[in-house]
Amino acid sequence: MTPLLIDCDPGIDDAVALLLAIASSAFADLPGQVAGDGEKSSRFNILGITTVAGNVSVATTETNARCICELGGRPELKVFAGCPRPLVRQPVFAEHVHGANGLAGVEFPTPRMPLQSQHGVDFLIEMLLQSPKKVAIAMLGPLTNLAVALIKAPQIAAQIDRVVIMGGAVGAGNVTSSAEFNFFADPHAAQVVLRAGREQGIDLTLIPLDVTHQAIATPARRAALAALGNRAGGTVARMLENYGLREQGQRGFAGPPLHDPCVMAYLLEPGLFEVKRCLAMVETESSLTLGRLGVAREGDGQGDGQGDGQGDGYNVAIAQSIDADGFYRLLTERLARLG
Ligand code: RIB
Ligand code: CA
Repeated sequence: MTPLLIDCDPGIDDAVALLLAIASSAFADLPGQVAGDGEKSSRFNILGITTVAGNVSVATTETNARCICELGGRPELKVFAGCPRPLVRQPVFAEHVHGANGLAGVEFPTPRMPLQSQHGVDFLIEMLLQSPKKVAIAMLGPLTNLAVALIKAPQIAAQIDRVVIMGGAVGAGNVTSSAEFNFFADPHAAQVVLRAGREQGIDLTLIPLDVTHQAIATPARRAALAALGNRAGGTVARMLENYGLREQGQRGFAGPPLHDPCVMAYLLEPGLFEVKRCLAMVETESSLTLGRLGVAREGDGQGDGQGDGQGDGYNVAIAQSIDADGFYRLLTERLARLG
């Protein structure tokens, strides 16, 4: 099983990504788990979930992460609150997209599982340094926590197997015409992490808006989730009902794009994606293009983005495309395993 740390800002799509990760984690303790494909179903050993200010405040993202863990039947998972604001810029939030409670206004019981007292950044550092195996990290929100961890303890780089990030846009953004939300919300953190890809040889893979906009939750795909007949499927379908309406209106999509679950899908089935190794950076100066992802050089399509990033002068593998039908097959099949 792959040791996995998840950093997120739930957030509707973060919530779906957490459920996908939970449904693909330790085989033995999921109710109703289908025997026989234990190898694939038990791909993750979730070491912990850190939360960050992003879509909504960190007080709300940590509460939402706990609500989703309980919905997924995993109240023993450890949830931590991380940074309450970006490194430099003034905080920006996205209640207008995710609702005031961050989960489309869908009501959840007050979580009974505790919030861990340790700061999320300190947990990331401690867990990475003590893990006997290299750890995969899924980044689903602004990159503040990972950036601070890398600044505070650069030696964690040697303990990181790979970092898969939802962020950036090679084409048009979704917050400004230039920038995608996670990179807009903390452009300096995004630059710190991308620079570490080259200077510290951390294996980074970016799933940008250009790819997540290919993963549209169409009415038929949402109906399949609602038809699962379990709380997870029904709750996800309800959260998606009014999600991403602005993007749908602007871009004529037949439903909301599911950004963050693409990160989990990449970790589970990288063959669903085509990637290219690139040299990329983030605009941190211009007020006009703040958070813009700049791709300086693109390599050829090379495998699934493995490699130390130093040998070829590139610093990140950027996804170019996704098999959307395959993605929704995986998502629906896995959510079916939950209660
Ligand atoms: O731009 C989409 C990203 O910003 C997603 O991670 C969404 O949850 C928000 O954090
Ligand atoms: Ca997110």
